Amino acid sequence: MDSATTQRSLISLAATLCLILIHSTPANSYNNSPNAYEVLREYNFPMGLLPKGMKGYDLNSSTGEFSAYFNETCSFSVQGSYELKFSSTVTGYISKDTLSGLDGISVKFFLLTLNIVGIIRNGDNLVISAGVESAPFPIDNFEESPQCGCGFQCSLSE
Ligand SMILES: *[C@@H]1O[C@H](CO)[C@@H](O)[C@H](O)[C@H]1NC(C)=O
Ligand SMILES: *[C@@H]1O[C@H](CO)[C@@H](O)[C@H](O)[C@H]1NC(C)=O
Repeated sequence: MDSATTQRSLISLAATLCLILIHSTPANSYNNSPNAYEVLREYNFPMGLLPKGMKGYDLNSSTGEFSAYFNETCSFSVQGSYELKFSSTVTGYISKDTLSGLDGISVKFFLLTLNIVGIIRNGDNLVISAGVESAPFPIDNFEESPQCGCGFQCSLSE
């Protein structure tokens, strides 16, 4: 795998994680406040990115500042090659089509670890930024909901 491909793959994974973390919310949040799926839709991001097992989120709707919470660090491998890791708290800013200032999501490929810092929706693509690199990924790639531990492979291993 050449380095550009590796970089893109890492970014893709990290992006998926970021989106998931940012928008995830516990099942009990549907009472009054919008749930995470609704929050995603409001900001024009795909709904299917929510991982199972999220604890909750806080969102300041005037500033877009958010915090997303896991019970503990959430990590899983993707395609048997990459490890995505979410800190127990992930923070950043969300506005329509834009996630920025992300902190708490990383993607690890062998010895290389990149932090996902931003995600922008551009038409049918999500442009993911990790470090100084950014690359577009089809939004269709973000329809699955990974799960801590087994990631995207849960149904296959059950
Ligand atoms: C988080 O931990 C609490 C206490 O252990 C547990 O009751 C709850 O189900 C956990 N939430 C998730 C989403 O795993
Ligand atoms: C949102 O952030 C602004 C600016 O920091 C603050 O003044 C406001 O109280 C916050 N709103 C909520 C609901 O936390």
